Amino acid sequence: MSTQHTALQPDDNPEPAFSVALNGAGGNIKGWVVADTLVDGLAMGGVRMTPGVTEEEVRGLARDMTHKFTLAGLRIGGAKGGIVSDGGNREQTFRTFGRTVKPLLHGGLHLGIDMGVTPADRAVFFDEAGYDPRFRRGAPDMPIDWRTYYEPLIDATGHGVGEAAVTALEATGRTGPARVVVQGFGAVGRAVARFLEERGHLIVGVADVRGTLSADRLPVGELIAVTDEFGGIDRTRLPDTVTQSTAPDAWLDVDADLVVLAAQKHALNAANVHRLRAGLVVEGGNISSSDEARDKARAAGSALVPGVIANIGGAGSAALAVTRVVPFDLSATARKAWVFDWVADCVRRNTRALLEIAASHAGDPLPELLDTRRKEL
Ligand SMILES: NC(=O)c1ccc[n+]([C@@H]2O[C@H](COP(=O)([O-])OP(=O)(O)OC[C@H]3O[C@@H](n4cnc5c(N)ncnc54)[C@H](O)[C@@H]3O)[C@@H](O)[C@H]2O)c1
Repeated sequence: MSTQHTALQPDDNPEPAFSVALNGAGGNIKGWVVADTLVDGLAMGGVRMTPGVTEEEVRGLARDMTHKFTLAGLRIGGAKGGIVSDGGNREQTFRTFGRTVKPLLHGGLHLGIDMGVTPADRAVFFDEAGYDPRFRRGAPDMPIDWRTYYEPLIDATGHGVGEAAVTALEATGRTGPARVVVQGFGAVGRAVARFLEERGHLIVGVADVRGTLSADRLPVGELIAVTDEFGGIDRTRLPDTVTQSTAPDAWLDVDADLVVLAAQKHALNAANVHRLRAGLVVEGGNISSSDEARDKARAAGSALVPGVIANIGGAGSAALAVTRVVPFDLSATARKAWVFDWVADCVRRNTRALLEIAASHAGDPLPELLDTRRKEL
């Protein structure tokens, strides 16, 4: 363990380790990079690019990254970046971003992808900053490049969310196939739907941004075959058995045991939580439920596994490489199996522990679990 260790900040400290406002070096951009915590001088998180992103949002997401890594027992702090843009002039934006964040990247703050930022955009800003995560002073070199490591792990998040779902179903005493609704049919939603169908559960509802599809048993493979890269399902090529609805949040009205949230922020919120019928909610997305919705769902008797536990797969697999924990000498197939097993173990352990705490007292069980994991680091 390094002697430069900087302690994780207690949860009651609302201020991040630092927050940098970006105006652009050699070009104009507006945005922020927030390092919520630093551990041994390291932090990491994704960069999101939306027209409405705010510093407050970036701070909240950076704090969530701290929580994810603490829960996962990874010795790295949480960070996040945000760029205010509708995505025009991408090349120029990410070149300017790369020049601006160059000292941060080289100083131990690894930035990856999040909403609105693609692997190609990341390659542009890494290139402009002359940053290659294979090399860092004081750490062993990575023997493979970042894309070779990371690209085979694309379904790691969905895999972990699926593990959270089956663990929670078991822990809440459920036996036999569960009826499942998956809200969001992008990279995460599709992987979770496939994972749960393969384990004998019934996918009875799926939603994308255009509405909800339902059936007694939706054929996941057939739906995936007519879904585009942005998670949009082609309504002209649906199987006959599928019922369609464009009513707002109609996924909440489908009779289900489990709802997986894998779309936008606050999908479950104060205005719609009264429609929740499922006894179990698993968040695949980030901040998929508002605080008020979580409290109300719990008070109504539903168990909820938050995204900081369930969706560790993507961030965790990146952090395993940045902290050089992953055994790089394994073959590509064995390395992927190692990372997926790590994700599954981590998610199962935290899901079980969270639900045990939830069963022992009323209120949000997450702070107690975070306290326990913080002491273990
Ligand atoms: N991809 C990852 O590895 C990863 C990791 C951690 C967290 N997340 C989070 O998980 C969520 C999903 O990520 P993704 O990569 O699958 O995204 P994606 O862009 O691939 O897919 C998003 C899906 O959500 C749907 N959607 C958007 N708005 C909706 C709405 N109002 N109602 C219903 N559906 C809606 C879209 O149509 C699409 O099917 C995001 O919040 C993301 O930040 C993703």
